[in-house]
This record gives sequence, C-alpha cells and structure tokens, in this order.
Amino acid sequence: MIPEWVQFNWLTICIAVIPLIYLYLTWNYNYWKKRNVAFVKPQLIFGNYKEVFLQKRTVSEVMEDIYKKLDGKPFVGFWRFRTPGILVRDPEMVKTVMVKDFHSFQDNALIVDPKMDPLLAKNPFFVSGEKWKNMRSVLSPSFTSGKLKPLLPLMEGVCEELLEYLRAAAPASAPDGIEASLTAFKYTVEMVARCALGIKGNNFTDSEGHLRTMVRRIVSPGFWKNIEFMILNFLPSMGSFLHLSWMPRDVDLFFTKIVTDEMDYRKKNNVIRPDYLQYLINMSKKENGVAYTEADALGHAVTFLTEGSETSSITLGFAWYELARHPAVQEELRQEVVAARGANGGRLPFEVLLELPLLDQVIHETLRLHPALPAMEKVCTRAISLRAADGTELHVPKGQLVILPVLGFHKDPRYFHDPERFDPDRFSPGRKSDIPKYMFLGFGGGPRQCLGMRFALQQTKLAIATMVAHFVIKATPKTPEVVEQDPTSFLACAKGGLWVRFEERQTSL
Ligand code: HEM
Repeated sequence: MIPEWVQFNWLTICIAVIPLIYLYLTWNYNYWKKRNVAFVKPQLIFGNYKEVFLQKRTVSEVMEDIYKKLDGKPFVGFWRFRTPGILVRDPEMVKTVMVKDFHSFQDNALIVDPKMDPLLAKNPFFVSGEKWKNMRSVLSPSFTSGKLKPLLPLMEGVCEELLEYLRAAAPASAPDGIEASLTAFKYTVEMVARCALGIKGNNFTDSEGHLRTMVRRIVSPGFWKNIEFMILNFLPSMGSFLHLSWMPRDVDLFFTKIVTDEMDYRKKNNVIRPDYLQYLINMSKKENGVAYTEADALGHAVTFLTEGSETSSITLGFAWYELARHPAVQEELRQEVVAARGANGGRLPFEVLLELPLLDQVIHETLRLHPALPAMEKVCTRAISLRAADGTELHVPKGQLVILPVLGFHKDPRYFHDPERFDPDRFSPGRKSDIPKYMFLGFGGGPRQCLGMRFALQQTKLAIATMVAHFVIKATPKTPEVVEQDPTSFLACAKGGLWVRFEERQTSL
C-alpha cells in the first residue's frame, strides 16, 4: 500500500506537471495569431496533422483542405504537431519560393542522417546547400538528349516484354481487368534496372519480384514503418536518438549488393555498357576537381532505381486509367501514334516520340490530376520577407516549414477551368499559356526541378504509345469512379488500385 504522503506527492506533482505539459504542447499555437496571419485552428498535440498521424489521410489531402478553406488568402498558417508552418497560395509567392529567391528556400524539409541512411543521403532530394549544388552539376549531364537517345532500343525491348506479359495476362483477367499501377510498376522497375544498372530484373516473369518488393518497401512502407517515418520527419532528433532509418537495413544491403556486384563485374571483365551506371563509374574515375567516389556512384545508382520507378509508375498507371475512362481521347491518341509509326517504319524515333503533341498533353493532364508528389515541403534557409500580389507581406524566419500545396493549385478553378475534368487540351499550344507559371508543378520547378524528368517522359511516353497502338484500354466494373489516395504511401498511390482491361487489337501498327 502506498503511504499517504507519497500519494499526496503524486497529486502535487500531477497538479504541477500537467499544466506545464499543456503549456509546452500549446505554446506555439498563438504563433500565427501574434503575426496576424490567417490560420486553421490546431488540435492539441497534433496541430493540423491528426489525420496524417492516424494514417487516415495524406499530407497533401490535408493541405488541399487548408488551401480550400481559406480561399482568397495569399498564405495560411498551420501546425505540424507543435511546429508552425506556412502554406503558400499566392502564385507570385510560389514563384519567389521556387525561383526568384531560391537561395532562401533551397532545401527540402526532409532530413536524412548519413550515418543511418548512407544510400539515401546521396539522393539530391535530401541533400542541402553547396553539396546539393555540386551534386546536381555532376548528375545533370547524364540526363541530356545525347545520353537518353541511345537508351531507346533498350527501352523498346522492355516494351516488347510488357506486350508479351499483357498478351498472356490480360485475357485471363476479365471481367475486372488487371491492376494498372502494379503493371506499370513492373514495367518501370524493369526499365530502370536495365537503363540505370544494366541488369535484368525479371519483373514480368518473376511473380515474387524481389527487386520490385525492395523498391516498394521504401515508398509504401506500411503502418508501423510509417510511424517511424513520421518520427524521422517531424522529430528528427528523436529519430537519431532512437537510431531510426528511412531505408530498412535489409533493403539498404540488398541495393548495395546488386550495384557493387555489377560494378565489380564490369571492372573485372572490362565490360563497358551504354547506361547510367557506366556514366557514374566513369565519373568516379575522372579527376575533375570534384571529389566523386565509388560510394557516390553506388548512392546515385540507387537514387535512380528508387526515384525513377515509383513516380513514373504512378503517372503511367493513372494515364492508362484516364485513357480507359476517356475512349474518345484514347482513339485520338491512337490515331496520332499510328500515323507517326506509319511514317517511321513502325517505330517511334526518339525525337518523334518526345514531340507527339497529344501524347505530351495526356501526360501533363495526368500529372495535373494525379501528381506523384502532391505537396512539396521546403524549409527556409535564409530569413526573407515575401510579398504577395495584393501587397501583403510575410516575414519568413530561417528554419520555417513552407508547404507548396501542389494538389490545391492543380484543382483550383481559377487556374484550371472545371478542374476535376480530364482535359488534355488544356496543355495544347493554344491554351497552355493560360496556365499561370508555377501553378502546374507535376515535376516541380526552378533549380530543384525533377532531375530525371526527361527520362521519366521518355519511358512513360513509350509505354503509353505502345499500349494504345496494340491494345484498347477499357474501364471495367472495378475501375474506380473517384480515386482515393492511399494514406500509408509517401507518394500519391491509389487506394485499392486502378483496375482496367487491356484488349488486344486485331490490327496494330
Ligand atoms: C513521372 C515521373 C516523375 C515525377 C512525376 C517526378 C516528380 C518529381 C518532383 C515533383 C520532384 C521535386 C521537384 C522540386 O522540388 O521542385 C522531383 C525531384 C527529383 N526527381 Fe523526379 N519525378 C519523376 C521521375 C524521376 C526519375 C525517372 C528520376 C530518375 C533519376 C527522378 C529523380 C529525381 C531526383 C533525383 C529529384 C531531386 C532533385 C533535387 O532535389 O535536386 N525523378 N521529382
């Protein structure tokens, strides 16, 4: 039995401590009021992130709500748990954040500890300051037309395998069809394995898909790993204290092994291949003044594998889904592709593939409705005053979290008339200029714009063009009318999948 004086002490401690905890938790909740900035009321402990923490909704959906709630305000305050953040709505301010005053916002908000995540720490997305600048200048030349064009025959080979796979899988899949995002993921992982590492991933034949599983574990981690991600993202010092890592240890070891095995094989056998890994190996040999090691080459090869597959497969899956729901657009696109193939001996040469107008519009409209990265989180690296188009000023201190609500912009009727409608014509040459700059952010913008954009466009365009030439993509009773985002995924994956049917055409070109 606890003595009476101890009980008294417990009571005293509770009476003294509970208000202190309450004060600590709510201390920052006056932040935006004190600065006369419109805000969305926070909830105790979670701020505006309760549904994110419970994994009921994604950050981008919560941000889209905040965006809509305070219509007319150039910027809106919110709280990520206790941390105040600012959501920028005004196009002028977005331009300032992304381009004009890029030096004040040059880092992404996600932090990676190089000791715990040595591979991810080499991904430019997580790198900051001068180190990021040097890295971009080393990697950018590997994504020029000169480097990408020779990859086309390799890519066409993967497309042939996709066709074979669907010829076998599609008839058996009726009446529900097959899951487009998974098919797209098999394609992009195989593509990236071949073009980046020069290895066969056997994604169309191996039902287990070891490589695929490993890539997916980073982006769609599941409930508990997601809790770890939230600690790493929202409370990085606690993440370090608990020795948490973004990439599970076995996934890290798996990637390290396949890339180093391939590098060793090439070294020992004097093998040179026309792929991204070769570019990285050559860079690590060069004495070009930039310290660039084999460990860097390993990290960048893994970046390509992870960044290059999931984002593109999301886009490709959604493009097939939208074409299935819009047969008239699909037919028009088929005619465009068939005519171009007919004029080029049944192939789509590099320049022709990239220039097909409707194909380009379809991808951009897909990215507008379903951006793979539907909210961008930046951090202020140098204090600055931002001015909105209506003259309102906002002082942003160093360290402030800044969110660009991509989905909010993409679904704002001011910039995109009838925003829920799939209308590729918005991106036609005659109408494209109506879209204010930086209100379409499918690949981001400014100096940090997606590094692999050209590769992404090449692989997704090729897969869409090949599919419409050989198959009719049809909606089935299982095709969702409205797509819900999977709250356990990092990127904008569709909850429950995207079901469509691929019917082979009798004649194709
Ligand atoms: C359709 C496919 C893709 C989409 C929608 C996409 C989208 C994006 C977006 C929105 C960003 C952030 C840009 C910003 O902060 O302004 C980004 C960054 C990045 N992307 Fe992609 N991406 C795709 C494919 C790829 C591919 C194939 C690669 C291959 C290497 C890649 C590599 C990267 C890297 C390394 C960054 C970080 C760039 C930096 O911070 O300097 N992405 N991507």
